[in-house]
Amino acid sequence: MPTRNSRPVPVAGRVNRFSYAIRNIVAEAKAVEAQGRRVRYLNIGDPVAFGFRTPDHLVEAATRAMRDGHNGYVPSVGVESARIAVASDYAARGVPVSPDRVLITTGTSEGIELALNALVDEGDDVLVPSPTYPLYTAILAKIGAQPRYYRTDPDRDWLPDLDHLRSLISTRTRVLVVIDPNNPTGAVYPTAVRRALLELAEQHDLTILADEVYGDLGFTGPLPLLGSLDPDAPVISFSSVSKAYLAPGWRAGWMVVGSTPRLDDALAAVKKLADGRLCSPGPMNYAVEAALTGDRSHQAAFREALAERGRVTTEMLNAIPGMRCVAPKAAFYVLPSVSLPPGRTDEHYVLSLLRETGILCVNGSGFGVPATGGYFRIVFLANPQELASIYADIGAFTRDYLARG
Ligand SMILES: Cc1ncc(COP(=O)(O)O)c(C=O)c1O
Repeated sequence: MPTRNSRPVPVAGRVNRFSYAIRNIVAEAKAVEAQGRRVRYLNIGDPVAFGFRTPDHLVEAATRAMRDGHNGYVPSVGVESARIAVASDYAARGVPVSPDRVLITTGTSEGIELALNALVDEGDDVLVPSPTYPLYTAILAKIGAQPRYYRTDPDRDWLPDLDHLRSLISTRTRVLVVIDPNNPTGAVYPTAVRRALLELAEQHDLTILADEVYGDLGFTGPLPLLGSLDPDAPVISFSSVSKAYLAPGWRAGWMVVGSTPRLDDALAAVKKLADGRLCSPGPMNYAVEAALTGDRSHQAAFREALAERGRVTTEMLNAIPGMRCVAPKAAFYVLPSVSLPPGRTDEHYVLSLLRETGILCVNGSGFGVPATGGYFRIVFLANPQELASIYADIGAFTRDYLARG
């Protein structure tokens, strides 16, 4: 037997730079639960956890694929019929694209990771919205690239501040991340803003990563794809079955590399990287096909349920003294703020809320906004009665918290 030492195995430095607040905060919630308090989890955007059901025909497609023996590796770009279904769906929405430019991915998340790795070198800059969905900055930390946060403005429905965005562009800027509809703010960008983003990308030779995972969840109906405004723009679009098809645990999504020949090298690079992970889960490729070719009537009911929850959320939060909440227009998130007493942080507020009421939200600084801004994110997927009771508790807690100073 070799002699053993007790030194811990060293961990790579990049792990210290990596952070993903949405899940990190769960450790705190578990500690609160261990003390016997019920925790109401409003931290993660999973409709299934709140009783929304995956449509039967998708479950059937996935299980049929397994029963039919589709249990081996599939092509690393995905099963042909699924790629055709994605390309047809995009064409029907005004983005004509060949199936050869589609990859089936392990969720939107993997598409984003593949694209950033294909496009961004260590030391490069990437424009990400502030607040942002934190996966982008987490991946950039692994790559060793810098996020440059462009402001989105709560006084203007959380729309991007285009002048600020422009001021951040340098020779090292490679990519512009656009999350529309937005997590964590629930914002939807009007056509004029979308056009301005496309123009900026054009002027400065940037590739747009268009995160369109909530595109079908506008409260008034599905939203156009960004690329439909200019099918020749350098846009790579991402989505999945996680949100609008109510199957986040399946880890099934797609990535569409716009038709412009300017993206041919990027497409080849993404495919090269995708080869290295062999493939996305095979049976789920068949579920993607079923999602995009089958019945979508569940989406209308889902959108209606979200709109109602969004209304209850905005009304009740804005009635709490010291709290402000911009009305969401899509998806199932809001990012309200409390006017924090001097010296307090959003994390202090969120952890105090958790410990005193069992309500788990995520601090705004986890999405890249300053910790003193008092922002925190709520997932409003619970039913309206439960939301009303949660917001009553948040109100009582907040009054007390602010009075304590
Ligand atoms: C803006 C945004 N992009 C991507 C993802 C990841 O989605 P997926 O489950 O498809 O990987 C999420 C999940 O919450 C998200 O909010």
